[in-house]
Amino acid sequence: MAAPRLTDSFGRDVDYLRLSVTDRCNLRCTYCMAEDMTFLPKQQILSLEELRDIAAAFVELGVRKIRLTGGEPLIRRDILKLVGSLANLSGLYELTMTSNGVMLPKMAQPLKDAGLSRINISIDSLKAERFKALTRVGNLDEVLAGIKAAGAAKFKRIKLNAVILAGFNDDEVLDLARFAVDNNMDISFIEEMPLGEISSHKRVATQITSEVIRQQLETEFTLMDSAETTGGPSRYARVASSESKIGFISPMSNNFCSTCNRVRLTAEGRLLLCLGNEHSVDLREILRSYPGDTERLKTSIMQAMENKPERHYFDPEQTDIVRFMNMTGG
Ligand code: GTP
Ligand code: 5AD
Ligand code: SF4
Repeated sequence: MAAPRLTDSFGRDVDYLRLSVTDRCNLRCTYCMAEDMTFLPKQQILSLEELRDIAAAFVELGVRKIRLTGGEPLIRRDILKLVGSLANLSGLYELTMTSNGVMLPKMAQPLKDAGLSRINISIDSLKAERFKALTRVGNLDEVLAGIKAAGAAKFKRIKLNAVILAGFNDDEVLDLARFAVDNNMDISFIEEMPLGEISSHKRVATQITSEVIRQQLETEFTLMDSAETTGGPSRYARVASSESKIGFISPMSNNFCSTCNRVRLTAEGRLLLCLGNEHSVDLREILRSYPGDTERLKTSIMQAMENKPERHYFDPEQTDIVRFMNMTGG
């Protein structure tokens, strides 16, 4: 029998779940967080069992790809246990993670052994002082060691993620791409989104489009557009004479909502139907009020799809969405 499918009211099939396992992070990236953040109390965070039950319900409903996010997913205690239990879900094709890399020197191989198939690692600068300024507390060497450890652990593929801010790190686009190619990794360049009220800069002043980034890249690399997809929002180009792909994630300049295939679960169990809207359903409430009632959970998830918004309307001049990225993991 064919697996059931989650379909929204615009005919989009949802087969990708992004699961945030904590809102906490060991970095404080300026575009992601305010300097002073309040994090959720522990009892509001889903337990490992609750995370697994929700993931299992989604897989029974046809989800094929789960990405673990944060905050920083690797600071969640027992993350390896969670990876192990999700990797065994029958019907799940791909279990992936987005991490800031800081804890990968110790965690990369255990994650691979537990069943994680791919990993995306965020790195926005290769200059130590700038990296520190951008992350407020980060140490570039730790992240570089993390990337190296991930390379040695032989994940199926490693992708680096770089958010580019005009006037801050847009002079590093070529260096970052060269770093990815030299390490036989892929890299996606991401446009900054106005999520959460930040104090470090005016988002309207740091906007830079994927088009401009691509023009910079083409001064050094031959890029060949590719129809390949990982089921994520990147549009990819192959880099001539290498194994690497360069991705462009362009939520501001080239809306990709019409092909959206994903929903997100916040660390406190709120099912968010779109990154750029507040439509959500409280799955934690359902789990805790009706323990063990898998059918009720699945029905709630199916009904939620009817409320998935058609698209986001991000405006860099305005922060309509007050939720910071650490609540949803991107
Ligand atoms: P792959 O599986 O490697 O394709 O991963 P991915 O690109 O789906 O995941 P990743 O964590 O690397 O996502 C990179 C960034 O893309 C996120 O942090 C967000 O900034 C952005 N992004 C992902 N999904 C969406 C989305 O639905 N809407 C918007 N506006 N941005 C998204
Ligand atoms: N706009 C775009 N990307 C962001 N990220 C965090 N905040 C933002 C934002 N406001 C990215 C991180 C990481 C991923 C989880 O989300 O750099 O790559
Ligand atoms: Fe932490 Fe990621 Fe946010 Fe940076 S972008 S502060 S690494 S959650």
